Amino acid sequence: MKRCSIGDRISKVGIVIAVIMVLAMGSWTVGQAVMTKDFQADKATFTKYLLATARAARTVYVKAVMRKAKEAGMRPSEAWVKEDHALMLPAQFIKALGKEIPEYELGLIGTDPLYEANAPRTQKEREMLARLASGKEKMVTFQDGMQFKGMAADFAITQGCADCHNRHPRSRRHDWKKGDFMGAIIVRMRG
Ligand code: HEC
Repeated sequence: MKRCSIGDRISKVGIVIAVIMVLAMGSWTVGQAVMTKDFQADKATFTKYLLATARAARTVYVKAVMRKAKEAGMRPSEAWVKEDHALMLPAQFIKALGKEIPEYELGLIGTDPLYEANAPRTQKEREMLARLASGKEKMVTFQDGMQFKGMAADFAITQGCADCHNRHPRSRRHDWKKGDFMGAIIVRMRG
């Protein structure tokens, strides 16, 4: 009867361990990839919900609060804090909401912003703005370095949007018109 030497046994055990390790590492890598994909999909859905909620809040502010307040003789003004009978602008309303939320950043971003704070911060944000401007998509979500972000397109739905931006002393662009793509509501998750 042929007996395995100790050396043979050790090398067989070694092979078995190596095979188990390769299988374990393989399944861990596949699992990790699936999890990352699911996680990314979840983040995208979640970010879209946040954008939809922010947009809805602004719509209610414009359609209900501002309209009623205008009937009562109030008017929207950027310097609403200092003025009597003045209301914050819709853009200021979104930014004010954002200030109340420490968990993530909510704000506005513009192609030709009145303020530098509303300019794209990264190359990826610039690219995504251009994608929204093409009109094919109304919302985009994307990974940008360590942060996950989402944007919902903002168009000059009335001539009033265009007029105020054209007249604003800080405006570098004076030919806005109704229907133009102006920018987006943006959500930036903390990294
Ligand atoms: C009465 C003036 C006024 C009106 C009307 C107005 N905006 Fe603005 N908008 C502003 C000001 C001022 C800011 C900058 C606010 C800030 O960052 O504090 C701004 C900011 C923005 C921004 C961020 C980029 C930037 O330019 O700084 C976008 C996008 C925007 N507005 C879109 C719109 C749209 C769309 C409408 C119409 C639905 C609209 N605005 C109506 C004055 C106005």
